[in-house]
Amino acid sequence: MYTLKTGKFPLLEANPNLVYLDNASTTQKPDSVIRAITEYYQTSNANVHRSVYRLAEASTRAFEDARSRVARFIGAFSSKEIVFTRGTTEALNLIAHSMVRTFLDPGDVIIVTQMDHHSNIVPFWLAAQERGYHLRFWPINPNGELDLEDLESLWSDRVKIVALPHVSNVLGTVNPVSSIASFVHDRGAFLVLDAAQSAGHGPFDVSQLGCDVAAFSGHKMYGPMGIGVLWAKEEILRALVPFQGGGEMIDTVTETSVTFNDPPYRFEAGTPNVEGAVGLAAAMDFLDSIDRKRIFAEEEELARYGVRILSSIPDLTLYGKAAERAPLFTFNLEGVHSHDLAQFLDSRYIAVRSGHHCAQPLLRRLGASTAVRASLGIYNTKKDIDRLALALEEARRYFR
Ligand SMILES: Cc1ncc(COP(=O)(O)O)c(C=O)c1O
Repeated sequence: MYTLKTGKFPLLEANPNLVYLDNASTTQKPDSVIRAITEYYQTSNANVHRSVYRLAEASTRAFEDARSRVARFIGAFSSKEIVFTRGTTEALNLIAHSMVRTFLDPGDVIIVTQMDHHSNIVPFWLAAQERGYHLRFWPINPNGELDLEDLESLWSDRVKIVALPHVSNVLGTVNPVSSIASFVHDRGAFLVLDAAQSAGHGPFDVSQLGCDVAAFSGHKMYGPMGIGVLWAKEEILRALVPFQGGGEMIDTVTETSVTFNDPPYRFEAGTPNVEGAVGLAAAMDFLDSIDRKRIFAEEEELARYGVRILSSIPDLTLYGKAAERAPLFTFNLEGVHSHDLAQFLDSRYIAVRSGHHCAQPLLRRLGASTAVRASLGIYNTKKDIDRLALALEEARRYFR
């Protein structure tokens, strides 16, 4: 298993008994990321793209170097395809707002999935409500996977956008993005990928995945909060109308007209989160220093192990049976509210999330209103799954 020591993560080092299993919510930060942010403020802090003094140029360089780092990390064609956002949510709001206004006509159809996070449903729902588009839900099968036959039966020539998660934040299902992309492109629509749960978990290359747009958050991949990425093919970004207005995103402003800057700046109104971009680049260096193929292989092994161990616990319902899955496990213990169970686990120093996981349509489909989720990261091992299983057995006896 991982030879990585938690010493690289100061918070975990300071809490050696903690089993942190809430990585799908947010990950802990390696010291290299924390150092990169501190160093940026100690050596290069100034506003970007505005001034010619050397310090401001150093700051702009740090910000633009981070953009190039992101482009390399995700296999983008050019750094012009990288828009910095506050996170996945803002990226998806941006794309829903701008794509529908650029490419859709009233009566057109947007398809999202039953396994989507609210961040990939509500922005499209808002756009559909405001502008007379139809929103359809691609249902999951009993294993918690998406079948192309179901997409086929929803299809019409009015479908313009399909938006889906790469990895479900509840079921752990890894969706076959490239075959879905071929299906969608053959029929002339766009594919938007919510990569919040995948970008930091192994190789992630947009050119291989074949999507048109991808969104992810820095804080779920060992980087800071408040920074995220919208990637889209350059020709799409060039066509899109802006999202927010302000400084940086304009070319000229007169009392009677406004013209816009080129992408990516057209979509980055206002002072950006430079420390966040620098921290995100450091997180990408950190992930590459471990080797993303290895991370993927080890997480696959943890996923298999977790399913085997948790499935053997009586009275525990583990949701999702996808053949390809990430190491995140959502479950309920019969007769116990998920908040009570999460609190019990916390008393054993195991941090998990309890709630609806921002996926109410999915929870409803699963017949649950809330559930507990244990999600693993780079520092977790089989021993952590064993400790979780032991605590769940204890909880079973306690609540009975
Ligand atoms: C699949 C998925 N999409 C989107 C989001 C939203 O991410 P953020 O809150 O970082 O914007 C999450 C967060 O949990 C997620 O799991």
